[in-house]
Amino acid sequence: MAEKILVTGGAGYIGSHCVLELLQAGYVPVVIDNFHNAIRGSEELPESLRRVQDIVHQPVLFQELDITDEAALQELFRKHRFSAVMHFAGLKAVGESVQKPLEYYRVNLTGTIRLLETMKAHGVRNIVFSSSATVYGDPKYLPLDEKHPVGGCTNPYGKSKFFIEEMIRDLCKAEKDWNAVLLRYFNPIGAHESGMIGEDPQGIPNNLMPYVAQVAVGRREFLSVFGNDYKTDDGTGVRDYIHVVDLAKGHIAALKKLKENCGCKVYNLGTGTGYSVLQMVRAMEKASGREIKYRITARREGDVASCYADPALAERELGWKAAFGLDKMCEDLWRWQLQNPTGFSKN
Ligand code: WQD
Repeated sequence: MAEKILVTGGAGYIGSHCVLELLQAGYVPVVIDNFHNAIRGSEELPESLRRVQDIVHQPVLFQELDITDEAALQELFRKHRFSAVMHFAGLKAVGESVQKPLEYYRVNLTGTIRLLETMKAHGVRNIVFSSSATVYGDPKYLPLDEKHPVGGCTNPYGKSKFFIEEMIRDLCKAEKDWNAVLLRYFNPIGAHESGMIGEDPQGIPNNLMPYVAQVAVGRREFLSVFGNDYKTDDGTGVRDYIHVVDLAKGHIAALKKLKENCGCKVYNLGTGTGYSVLQMVRAMEKASGREIKYRITARREGDVASCYADPALAERELGWKAAFGLDKMCEDLWRWQLQNPTGFSKN
């Protein structure tokens, strides 16, 4: 009998790529999303999931639901027998979190607590949590391994990820029948090779590569490079960019880990290689054949010079390693952007 997996926030960029991998791995994903960061498609399905259906030629079970709505969560868990939960739902804009801390803690923390309580009430005690390398704060050493201190986060978004990690860790300590895998993402970029799903930021992209792709496709005039006076080879910020499909496959590996009654485990999902902003600009010019104009501007508040992963633990314990290199990440990003200049929305 195929295992049913609840995917919260599964209409988003990472979530939709994980839904696709779940279907291809023979699981039955049940997706909930409140459309906070997703475009409505037809048949009341988010457009991203309608396209996942087209790619894998299988129906996607979806229900519009907000994870802070306790009654709706209870109803959902009465309707389905889940073997595990993949939890993506939450607010995720770093800058916005500084302006609206209470909103971020209400949604991300209260939503997660309601989800965990409902899981417990229905005997579902297996969770994969979408965490972030941002929990490491300013790196004390590089590459970052899972032993690096956490909690020095500089913004409410990152703190909410750290607090949720701690809540889940404490729950697993108190109740030994819980299993949790906390996945610390580095910088997910790119898109499924079909070019049909990808990252579709609403408004001006906060993150580098969606912005670079929009410059390449002519939607933005130039990129602002946030500082070139960092202690890095070319002075611009260095990050560990990982293909979103590699990241999604890491979630399938994490599901298998839960089966080992693993308790609470934490893994970095990164490639172990760092690239600078200017290296990413050049890689995108190569993939797109377009010139990407940029201007050096002031540093962005809260940015660190370099951040990249030691991915060895996930390779050792999950049997997972990122397979795609920078060229593939940029080629797949370009295909998505070129085929969808305005993302999932038509205009
Ligand atoms: C990458 C590099 C910028 C935009 C953030 C969150 C993290 C995670 C991933 C959610 C940096 C530079 C960027 C631009 C630029 N999000 N940059 N011009 O800051 O490493 O991580 O996104 O989980 O939690 O903190 O990613 O893509 O914003 O920046 O020069 O217009 O690109 O300074 O060096 P970041 P990013």
